[in-house]
Amino acid sequence: MADKQAFFDHITEGYTTKGDSITLGAAMLDGETLTNAYVKVPLKTLNRHGLIAGATGTGKTKTLQVLAENLSDKGIPVLLMDMKGDLSGIAQPSPGHPKIDERHAQIGLPFEAKGFPVEILTLSEQNGVRLRATVSEFGPVLISRILDLSEAQSGVMSILFKYCDDNKLPLLDLKDLKKILQYASDEGKDEIEKAYGRISPATSGAILRKIVELEQQGGDLFFGEKSFDTDDLLRIDENGRGYINIVRLTDIQDRPKLFSTFMLCLLAEIYATFPEQGDSGRPELVIFIDEAHLIFKEASDALLDQIESIVKLIRSKGVGLYFVTQNPTDVPDAVLSQLGLKIQHALRAFTAKDRKAIKLTAENYPLSDYYKTDEVLTSLGIGEALVSALNEKGIPTPLAATMLRAPMSRMDILEDEELKDLLEGSKLIKEYNEEIDRDSAYEMLNKKIETANLKEAKEKAEKEKAEAQRSTTRRTTSRRRGKSTLEKVITSPTVIRSVLGILSKMLK
Ligand SMILES: Nc1ncnc2c1ncn2[C@@H]1O[C@H](COP(=O)(O)OP(=O)(O)OP(=O)(O)O)[C@@H](O)[C@H]1O
Ligand SMILES: [Mg+2]
Repeated sequence: MADKQAFFDHITEGYTTKGDSITLGAAMLDGETLTNAYVKVPLKTLNRHGLIAGATGTGKTKTLQVLAENLSDKGIPVLLMDMKGDLSGIAQPSPGHPKIDERHAQIGLPFEAKGFPVEILTLSEQNGVRLRATVSEFGPVLISRILDLSEAQSGVMSILFKYCDDNKLPLLDLKDLKKILQYASDEGKDEIEKAYGRISPATSGAILRKIVELEQQGGDLFFGEKSFDTDDLLRIDENGRGYINIVRLTDIQDRPKLFSTFMLCLLAEIYATFPEQGDSGRPELVIFIDEAHLIFKEASDALLDQIESIVKLIRSKGVGLYFVTQNPTDVPDAVLSQLGLKIQHALRAFTAKDRKAIKLTAENYPLSDYYKTDEVLTSLGIGEALVSALNEKGIPTPLAATMLRAPMSRMDILEDEELKDLLEGSKLIKEYNEEIDRDSAYEMLNKKIETANLKEAKEKAEKEKAEAQRSTTRRTTSRRRGKSTLEKVITSPTVIRSVLGILSKMLK
């Protein structure tokens, strides 16, 4: 009994916040929930990133849902990576359930059912706001990382970007990138070599293969116009609630490379465009990545390095990143060591290897006089988790086995009709899903070369006709030539250069 009171005091003291916070639930001791012993996360430390882990079916995704809803309620927008397509229900209120009432009575929190402002986004051709970005926006360095290029190959990429820049050739999609690569080792070879240095055919061939690989994973859907403005992730609805932006990624599970590329691009773009945040006391945006092992799986070392450093840096922009995955070891150590909030759902001990993993996980949590962490880890029920947060001073809060509150919104997906209504009401879909067919490097080079060819061909035909007439009267026999004029014209650097000259003038 004394223990219980002491524990209650230990928790309430440890989880008292000066500023605003989100209540996750109430602490538990020996399997019993202590009503009103609230476990809270201060808004101030939500940009310090976090992890939600646990065996399958233990409640990770619902915990993500609870956090997202409560953030929205506080006017903080959220971005959710929905791998299984099980989050759209957030737009509708929970139908309620006696078990939910029981849970909330134990915690000591009234249960309120409500839906939240939701925007559905997509990386592919599914319904939703299309998320796209142009190649030139990323610049040669990031594109080289994405493609996992060597130093020499990255150098070539920089030359190509510079060339396109100097000649006002927009690089929008992967088709443009492929075209300029091919052009650089073919028609434009001499010209580029003179101005920027030699590009070996082996290097451009290797780069081309990497681009094709990304294309095969669906990268061509992601690169292009209209480019998504990340400020649109920060919308607040008319009631002051943050939008919950759900990226539907159900069709990306078997394309991890595309997913890690997308995540890196998105984080880099957010990092580049969001202003530096002083001590505002609350995050600007919180991003949740469900089934997060997918970003790290198959990601190259260069990509991992880049993700790790962006995770570190993005905090200063007021952006919190939350990884949701079964096993904490799915997340690289360099990322794990930066996480402030840890919510560990139950782990199952089926094998010796499982037991080892549990011991290891337990060691990563703060010590507690009240728990044997490894034992608690295996005895937690569904919708219960071990929580360790950062208090407003950045110090870990007491370890708390927690009975988590239930989501206010529906724990199931939207019906087709509901989804249709949601999509129809979206302003962003109208803005971003219009097909744009702007001419870029690919079309421009092709078109101009073609025009030049046609003109030359016509001139040549006329000239030949005239010559034929002349030769019949003069009986000249020498008709054989080496390479045809047409061929010479097509491959002549002078003509290509003049084509580009016209182009750059046109575009100025
Ligand atoms: N906080 C909660 N309140 C009420 N019910 C919950 C809560 N958390 C989990 N549940 C119940 O547990 C079920 C499984 O939860 P959830 O889908 O979040 O598991 P998961 O850990 O994400 O599983 P998976 O690894 O398969 O994705 C839910 O459908 C719900 O019925
Ligand atoms: Mg889940």
